[in-house]
Amino acid sequence: MKIGIDKIGFYVPDLYLDMRKLAVAREIEPDKFTIGIGQEKMAVAPITQDAVTLAANAAASILDETDKENIDLVIFGTESGVDHSKAAAVYVHHLLGLNPAARSFEIKQACYGATAGIQMAKGHIALNPESKVLVLGSDIARYGLDSSGESTQGAGAVALLISANPRILALEDKSAYLTADIMDFWRPLYSSTAYVDGKFSNEQYSFFFANVWQQFKEKSSLTFKDFEALCFHLPYTKMGLKALKPVLEEGTSEDKERLLNHYQKSIGYNKVVGNIYTGSLYLSLLSLLEQKEKLTAGSRIGLFSYGSGAVGEFFTGILQPGYQKHLNTKQHTEMLAARREVSVAEYEVIFQQTLPIDGSSLLSETEKDSATICLAGIANNQRQYINKTAEK
Ligand code: COA
Repeated sequence: MKIGIDKIGFYVPDLYLDMRKLAVAREIEPDKFTIGIGQEKMAVAPITQDAVTLAANAAASILDETDKENIDLVIFGTESGVDHSKAAAVYVHHLLGLNPAARSFEIKQACYGATAGIQMAKGHIALNPESKVLVLGSDIARYGLDSSGESTQGAGAVALLISANPRILALEDKSAYLTADIMDFWRPLYSSTAYVDGKFSNEQYSFFFANVWQQFKEKSSLTFKDFEALCFHLPYTKMGLKALKPVLEEGTSEDKERLLNHYQKSIGYNKVVGNIYTGSLYLSLLSLLEQKEKLTAGSRIGLFSYGSGAVGEFFTGILQPGYQKHLNTKQHTEMLAARREVSVAEYEVIFQQTLPIDGSSLLSETEKDSATICLAGIANNQRQYINKTAEK
């Protein structure tokens, strides 16, 4: 039985910052951001969006009433959780009106969370072929104003509907993974911004890719010639390339040309969204699939997932016939084009806006947010969410 991605949705907040303008404000040569790390725009999340609303908006864009009835497992991968106890998946389950007969929980391992969710979903569907699983990867990447990682922030969510007989990508069974207890990137419970050792993190990411690729080759006997494209977890769009290039030396000149060409297609959305942590790999997959040029059905795509701390995995999928019919390319292009640019000063104000933590109430201006599902504020230490469609 084939199991894999049947639908894939994406949501980005309606504000962005131009990386060149951020560079000027920080007295950095703009080419460092646009060429050196490969980022053009960075999504900025207003206070009316959090990991829950981003994910709910992404999922709402793909689910129909039959999906809502058949989903019996909701797995929410995030490192921007809104509660130490209650899972973000439960809020999303309610906001989308899913069938109550479902399991819902949150999963955390830095940017690896959604991948763990997908692998778990695959096992669940193997045992329950009629089930559909909603896997969410949703985050707001915050390194801090004027920090070394500031240029690799962003916000957004990817929602994946995993099912039997998937219409987009059938996941294969061979997979290679690696865990090592390292401190390359982390966020203690008391901190709203991440700590990162940028150089070490880049080294480990490349090491993990080389390691899981080697393991994968031994398990599968596949080589680069068996892959049409490779997608990477992308904190910034140059990062995957830095890991790929040395390993790609073992490929032929045709392999290099094909994989490097498709790498450029796989960074399209990431370049103008920024880092969305656990959703980043799947945003890269979406960039590849929604490029204008059609990929051949039956071709193989490799996916490299990396979550600092660290867990890495390399796994693969086969493109399904007619996959393009099940994408929302037009909607995604329009959503990105409709965003409003904020100035650096405006971004700095938004960055510092936080919900009260002393039990007092706050009402947010949800009418300023074009999103259907918003965080309306906080009262009695409880986040208040609204679905504007449901209220009409
Ligand atoms: N024109 C073009 N390129 C330029 C440039 C310019 N004017 N100035 C610098 N660059 C290039 C550098 O050569 C370098 O490229 P290279 O890596 O190919 O050598 C790149 O821009 C970054 O410069 P660097 O000096 O390494 O930046 P930095 O020390 O300020 O680090 C980050 C910035 C973003 C790269 C680093 O903080 C980082 O990696 N952070 C994120 C890591 C992360 O998110 N890890 C966790 C998840 S995996």
